[in-house]
Amino acid sequence: MSFDSRFRPLARRAYQKWEALPINHKRARRKIVDPYLQPRQRLARDWIGQHTESDNFYYDLTPDNLQELGSLIAAISGASPALIDEYLEEIHTDSHLREHLAHTWAVNPKMRDAKLAYGRRIGWYALVRILKPKMIVETGVHHGVGACVLTSALIRNRVDGSPGRYLGTDIDPGAGVLFTGRYAQEGEIAYGDSITTLSKISTPIDFFINDSDHSAEYESREYETILPLLARSSIILGDNSHTNTKLNDFSRQHGRSYLFFGEVPANHWYPGAGIGVSLSTIPLTLA
Ligand SMILES: C[S@@+](CC[C@H](N)C(=O)[O-])C[C@H]1O[C@@H](n2cnc3c(N)ncnc32)[C@H](O)[C@@H]1O
Repeated sequence: MSFDSRFRPLARRAYQKWEALPINHKRARRKIVDPYLQPRQRLARDWIGQHTESDNFYYDLTPDNLQELGSLIAAISGASPALIDEYLEEIHTDSHLREHLAHTWAVNPKMRDAKLAYGRRIGWYALVRILKPKMIVETGVHHGVGACVLTSALIRNRVDGSPGRYLGTDIDPGAGVLFTGRYAQEGEIAYGDSITTLSKISTPIDFFINDSDHSAEYESREYETILPLLARSSIILGDNSHTNTKLNDFSRQHGRSYLFFGEVPANHWYPGAGIGVSLSTIPLTLA
């Protein structure tokens, strides 16, 4: 027996013992995890030093994620993916909207590093463009990025002969700083608790977005409050659906279809939220 063949098994066993030591086991597994975590940690470190808002993390979606969003909206509406892609592109070419948001942020020192990006809201935009709702209700307005995105879609729908109205609700009397000018002509913001405001609505709602108090219990109450107000054909978007099943539960209880789109933010530490979608029928046509 050669020297090599006698000592190789011994060497292999010794190496395996060394490799199994807790410190080496952890080092090897860290090597697997680091490529996933480190880029995100770098982005988080940059973000911490910036002057942007700290609630909504405005970011773009990755191109692949955008394509997935287009396919989902095509399936919801029965329209061609090519048409939906046009709508997803349309909002990016809306220079008035871009300048309006950029100008309002430019005069706010707390927002001086804020990036103009719509994230999943461009899905809201494309849905409004393709479905042409008559009455949009958005609970939770904050700065009003969502409000401006939604009303810019309403402006184009009106030009196309399908007008609609927007109603935003917010408990903060300072909410909606961006909701001015031509956007404010498309609707209004009702200040106060959402449930109280929703209880007073008498017109049918065909497009509802939940984005106010993000506790699961409050979210559920919003859906129950609007149930009798929903138009025969209607869509509900949940902005909290990545954290709980309330919109899915509501949809199951009331014979509605439910889908979920998960965001993949581009160049941002935030792992992404999503759009819960509850539909009276699929594909959906708002009569
Ligand atoms: C996440 S932000 C909304 C972002 C907005 N939808 C957008 O996309 O740009 C949540 C907002 O809900 C409001 N809010 C929280 N609780 C509320 C309640 N009970 N009734 C109405 N608004 C509420 C907050 O003041 C805050 O402005």
